[in-house]
Amino acid sequence: MNFNFANERPADADAIIFAVPKNGLADLQLDLEQGGTVKAGAKAARFDGKLGEVFETFVTESDKILRVVLTGLGKGKAKDAESAGGSAIAKILASGAKHAAVDPSSLDEKILARFLFGAKLRSWRHDKYRTKMPEKQKVTLQNITVLDADLATSKAWTDLSAVADGVALTRELVAEPANAIYPESFVARCEELKELGVEFTVLGWDEMEKLGMGALLGVSQGSERPPRLLAMRWDGTNGEQKTPLALVGKGVTFDTGGISLKPGAGMEEMKWDMGGAGAVAGTMKALAGRKAKAHVVGVCGLVENMPDGKAQRPGDVVTSMNGQTIEVINTDAEGRLVLCDAMHWTQETFKPDVLIDLATLTGAMIIALGNEHAGCFSNDDGLAENLLEAGKDSGDPLWRLPVGPAYDKLINSPIADMKNVGPRGAGSITAAQFLKRFVQDGVKWAHLDIAGMVWADKPSPVWDKGATGYGVRLLNQYVVDQLES
Ligand code: BES
Ligand code: MN
Ligand code: ZN
Repeated sequence: MNFNFANERPADADAIIFAVPKNGLADLQLDLEQGGTVKAGAKAARFDGKLGEVFETFVTESDKILRVVLTGLGKGKAKDAESAGGSAIAKILASGAKHAAVDPSSLDEKILARFLFGAKLRSWRHDKYRTKMPEKQKVTLQNITVLDADLATSKAWTDLSAVADGVALTRELVAEPANAIYPESFVARCEELKELGVEFTVLGWDEMEKLGMGALLGVSQGSERPPRLLAMRWDGTNGEQKTPLALVGKGVTFDTGGISLKPGAGMEEMKWDMGGAGAVAGTMKALAGRKAKAHVVGVCGLVENMPDGKAQRPGDVVTSMNGQTIEVINTDAEGRLVLCDAMHWTQETFKPDVLIDLATLTGAMIIALGNEHAGCFSNDDGLAENLLEAGKDSGDPLWRLPVGPAYDKLINSPIADMKNVGPRGAGSITAAQFLKRFVQDGVKWAHLDIAGMVWADKPSPVWDKGATGYGVRLLNQYVVDQLES
């Protein structure tokens, strides 16, 4: 989608979008020859500007047919504007309309930028493998022209546009199948971030073996695809912020379960078991793209979990980089094995004060919270509060769950320092306890279990079915609040 800015409606615009606050129809000024008819039609259709409502009609304007779209703005808060923009675009994306103008008259700059952010998020699609898509399902909309030339260079828009580009990268990484995105190709796909000033460190098998990452490599050893540890560093502070915020993502590019093989039904979903790493990569793109005044490092632990003659067995004992030993009871609890080494290496290398990990870690998280919140586990109340707040503001919501010694002892092993699974109950919490054993003293840590959030079975105002890009808006907001304000 191209976003353009001009003060006049382009001659080839075949649609125009107006945002209407709740109960604001009567006061609405429509700069159209048949504005009165449109308003009467909307009223007859019982459109009253409620959030999520969209009214569509056609008028003759300068002897041409013009599609008119009214989208409900609800109370008109920034978040409302975002979903109103998304809802309007969802309506016309594959409608036949090619060029939509957006009339900004009812919106101030910040709200308008957020409206367009929603529009940009909702216009993302992944149709590249659909060679026989019915004509009527194909996207027709190519251009959006906002009738406000000044907005083009306003920071409100350019920042959000960069965030939407980050979300798009995450969605692409998540949506691509595992024969396209595997550890090496994940890294290759991220390499464009170098052009934005992001510094890369990439470790392969041999380097990780020398460092003693037995837990991560134990997961990888059943796969033909070699593992990667990818670190992306962005410093927009000229060295002023000495230690970076650290983000660590689970990047299991396909999770078969390994020898503890998953059931066949639904296994294809495990192509998105790299959603944590995808969110980290997208966040780095957003931050670098908008030149955030922050120092942040994003680390992705990238492996494929396969059953094979060389795969690790239930009962194997592996030694992690920090020397702790782990009895691998279930090879399908692999995410924590990848993360523990990635987290330890991140702390040794970058000495962060705050470490946030993101992972599609447990099915139990979906049982607990469904697809409405990601779980947040933390050793620091302030950090948890800041993240929950950022979640509310950004539209990537979080809900906090407990950690504590009573849960921790559930993963003690009789033959090693710990085992990689606990009993049936509290599966998401014992997974978090496992990770907590790899957090160094003094480090504020939060673990976000995003298993229910990275993939959607139904559309929302800002995404279609499929990859949501969860985490990018959240982490971007956290950086804005905590490092840039
Ligand atoms: N990647 C899965 C978790 C998952 C499951 C995410 C379904 C999204 C949808 C993870 O590696 C896993 O398999 N976890 C196991 C842990 C169990 C063996 C303790 C699970 O949740 O069943
Ligand atoms: Mn698994
Ligand atoms: Zn997994």
